[in-house]
Amino acid sequence: MALTNRNPLPITLSNPRSPVTEAYRTIRTNLQFASVVDDVQVVMTTSSLPGEGKTSTVSNLAVVTAQSGKRVLLIDADMRKPQIHQRFHTSNLTGLSSILIKESSLEECTMEGAIDGLFILPSGPIPPNPSELLSSKPFTRLIEACREQYDLILVDSPPVLSVADGLALTRSVDGVVFVVDAQNTNRVMAKKAVDSLQQIGARILGVVLNKAKRNAKDSYYYYNYYSSNHKVNV
Ligand SMILES: Nc1ncnc2c1ncn2[C@@H]1O[C@H](COP(=O)(O)OP(=O)(O)O)[C@@H](O)[C@H]1O
Ligand SMILES: [Mg+2]
Repeated sequence: MALTNRNPLPITLSNPRSPVTEAYRTIRTNLQFASVVDDVQVVMTTSSLPGEGKTSTVSNLAVVTAQSGKRVLLIDADMRKPQIHQRFHTSNLTGLSSILIKESSLEECTMEGAIDGLFILPSGPIPPNPSELLSSKPFTRLIEACREQYDLILVDSPPVLSVADGLALTRSVDGVVFVVDAQNTNRVMAKKAVDSLQQIGARILGVVLNKAKRNAKDSYYYYNYYSSNHKVNV
């Protein structure tokens, strides 16, 4: 697929020296600390609403973690609005949904990402019942199989307040990175989303403050800030 502005590669691939890429490396380092202390191997990104930066965050994290020598699987579990195949310019003819309905195997659907150590499992065809699929036994079994093969499994997911899928997913993951859009996320909505995640026992590893202005002079410059503080003050 040709590179277009509509589907730019993750910034960590296109601009490895930018401060934004450096910020993603900081998030990676924090996650690595969490994984040493608490055995965190499967991590999902989520947020309250669409457009806050879940897919961008998880894609860039996948890149910088693979660059650090880890074997990383990036799963697109946003089966309503899948984007990972577009970010990494892979096919989406088969993927997660095909495995869950037993049409294909993990090996058949996993594609090599743009760099060594990065593997992509796209969403596959959009199913009618994503919530049920993501809370099914085959999904849990799939994640268990992935744990045997990869150092880190990153899962992109839909927004918590829009559909039940994100909450269903938390059962199979070890922790959640919550993304806040510094320009647009509504405090009340973010708090509601974090509360519902915590109510079902999700472990919030940290918060990424996305699209924050770096300073007043640099008003068009965006970066990401990661807080490993488990308490989220929104
Ligand atoms: N830090 C950022 N700086 C600039 N644009 C961003 C940033 N993060 C996300 N975007 C853009 O915002 C839009 C929504 O981001 P996306 O990651 O797809 O959100 P979500 O997955 O939460 O719906 C995309 O067009 C993306 O390129
Ligand atoms: Mg997304």
